[in-house]
Amino acid sequence: MDFIRKHQTFLIGNYAPPAIEIVRGKGSHLWDSQGKKYLDFTSGIAVTNLGHSHPEWIKQVQHQVELLAHCSNLYSIPEQVRLAERLARKIGPGKVLFCNSGAEANEALIKLSRLHGEQGEGKRTKILVARNGFHGRTLGALSATESSKYRKGFEPLLPGFVFCKLNELSDFENAIDDETVAILVESIQGEGGLHVSSDSFLQGIEKLCQKNNLLFLMDEVQAGIARTGEFLGYQKSGVQPDAIAMAKGLGGGFPIGAIWVKDSSSSLFTPGSHGTTFGGSPLACSAAHAVLDVIEKEDLIAQAKVLGDYLLQGIQKLAENFPKKILEIRGRGLMLGVQLADEPGELVSILRDNGLLAVGAAGQTLRLLPPLTITQDEIDQGLKILRQSLSAFEPKKIVP
Ligand SMILES: Cc1ncc(COP(=O)(O)O)c(C=O)c1O
Repeated sequence: MDFIRKHQTFLIGNYAPPAIEIVRGKGSHLWDSQGKKYLDFTSGIAVTNLGHSHPEWIKQVQHQVELLAHCSNLYSIPEQVRLAERLARKIGPGKVLFCNSGAEANEALIKLSRLHGEQGEGKRTKILVARNGFHGRTLGALSATESSKYRKGFEPLLPGFVFCKLNELSDFENAIDDETVAILVESIQGEGGLHVSSDSFLQGIEKLCQKNNLLFLMDEVQAGIARTGEFLGYQKSGVQPDAIAMAKGLGGGFPIGAIWVKDSSSSLFTPGSHGTTFGGSPLACSAAHAVLDVIEKEDLIAQAKVLGDYLLQGIQKLAENFPKKILEIRGRGLMLGVQLADEPGELVSILRDNGLLAVGAAGQTLRLLPPLTITQDEIDQGLKILRQSLSAFEPKKIVP
């Protein structure tokens, strides 16, 4: 096919897409250049939480394009101030800094920790992170990411990250020493295979941080923005982190990242100490306002819970029918992972041929991230395609 040959000729080969070109989206569906329609259970990897081309999102972004797209952080941007206020109302007393992506938001958290570590005697720089986590591809965020799959070829990385087992509080506790400054975890590991941080684990981490003057850092880049049935995934556990990274779903398809920092640490960044040209542009903020408006108007937090449970029940039935192919189901709300008996690649490709888009994750996991605006009928259609595709899927690894 001509387009894939051109893709390979002109684009650097860091992605290896299948031979389809996506050209249009509406609601829970995408269309390719040949006119084939797909049910989208990827949401652009947890980004298009309102579905594609939501009319309210289009209206607000279009209005802002005509008014003002960019003016830089040389000046105060009203849409940015209003968005920061809205985020603080949803999270807690604190302040917000805007950037452009999840990796950048985590870079800002790492830099915040450095500033926190400068306070008091000595210099603390060590950050404890969970095994299997994923925090982005920039060198700092990559240093916080354990998997050799992402690190290979890029070492030496930033020193000072210590990997501890998710949900094993004692592992984190034992790793704390005089140089430790922060703990960074995801409420649900997305790339890592949909492993959920338990309530008691997050509560324990909060206490450890308070006791040892560490920053409790939360990466909500994938699990955040209503996807798991809370505005941010950790909120289910009744804890309050010191700083939080957000991106992906915040812009609903327009790039925006943000960190929220609790009041007592929010003056660590001072004029000139950090910044980015595009962070929190009027246009990016207008996209995020549209996302928050629709989440509120259409009650998408409750939707994610109800429809997530419905999808989960459907997959549980499939697991009963295919016990040698589905080994475990993990996740929460509309962020679900199906652990398969083999790598997910073959099933992802069968699903795509059958008209359903899904994405793999670590640990032989098939990741399902439908838009939060999905209907029950569309979930039924997705489950039907999943059933049909599981029948054709032949895991190479034999499950006794
Ligand atoms: C939890 C988490 N943090 C950070 C990132 C990096 O975000 P971005 O790709 O926007 O840099 C991702 C991306 O998948 C993620 O899932």
